[in-house]
Amino acid sequence: MTTTVPAKDLAQDQRDAAEAGRAEQALSPARLRQVFSAFPTGVTAIAALVDGVPVGLAANSFTAVSLDPPLLTVCMAHTSTTWPLLADLPRLGVSVLGADQEHACAQLASRSADRFADLDWHATDGGAVLLDGATAWFDTSVERLIRAGDHDIVLLRIRAMDADHDVAPLVFHGSRFRRLAGARSDTAERPAPAAPTAPTAPPIAGTEESS
Ligand SMILES: Cc1cc2nc3c(=O)[nH]c(=O)nc-3n(C[C@H](O)[C@H](O)[C@H](O)COP(=O)(O)O)c2cc1C
Repeated sequence: MTTTVPAKDLAQDQRDAAEAGRAEQALSPARLRQVFSAFPTGVTAIAALVDGVPVGLAANSFTAVSLDPPLLTVCMAHTSTTWPLLADLPRLGVSVLGADQEHACAQLASRSADRFADLDWHATDGGAVLLDGATAWFDTSVERLIRAGDHDIVLLRIRAMDADHDVAPLVFHGSRFRRLAGARSDTAERPAPAAPTAPTAPPIAGTEESS
């Protein structure tokens, strides 16, 4: 026996499917990345020694969380091949990159480059790797991991920290690196940064300096 679907229902089904498609597109990862990029952030390097070798990645998901106890978070993508190497280590370094560390950021996000080549860094006794020239740095340990969609929210307890407020921060906004206008070191003479290595994610549209 065959059943006949009224033409009216078919048209409604098509409209529903089109609307669902539009809704899906409106919240697509590419669109989310674009809209999230309206929020300006700094950029950090999350790094530590693995068998005596520095391992790390660039992350702009840094957020200060708590003063007492001292906590911060970063979000790590489930697709990251580096995060699993770091997740179980006793200490992780979090360096807030300076305005002149644009090239370091691109390198630390690259899948092909030697991420620490030509970078100045040092390790703490516990194995956290901190970048020289950063505007702030934290020696941390993993307090808790919270699965959140396609990322882990990594709650980090701060064990030690310092800041150099004379170093202006690197800013990431609209998928571009920027500098803060009027930041203290913005007026200082500095060499032009080397061409960045193309990172894998998120895409960097180019570089731009604020005036
Ligand atoms: C500016 C910038 C910010 C990034 N922020 C994050 C982040 O917060 N979390 C994350 O998991 N990956 C982030 N990435 C991507 C990683 O740095 C890295 O490219 C990615 O994890 C792929 O490398 P992996 O497989 O070695 O982890 C960022 C990349 C760039 C260029």
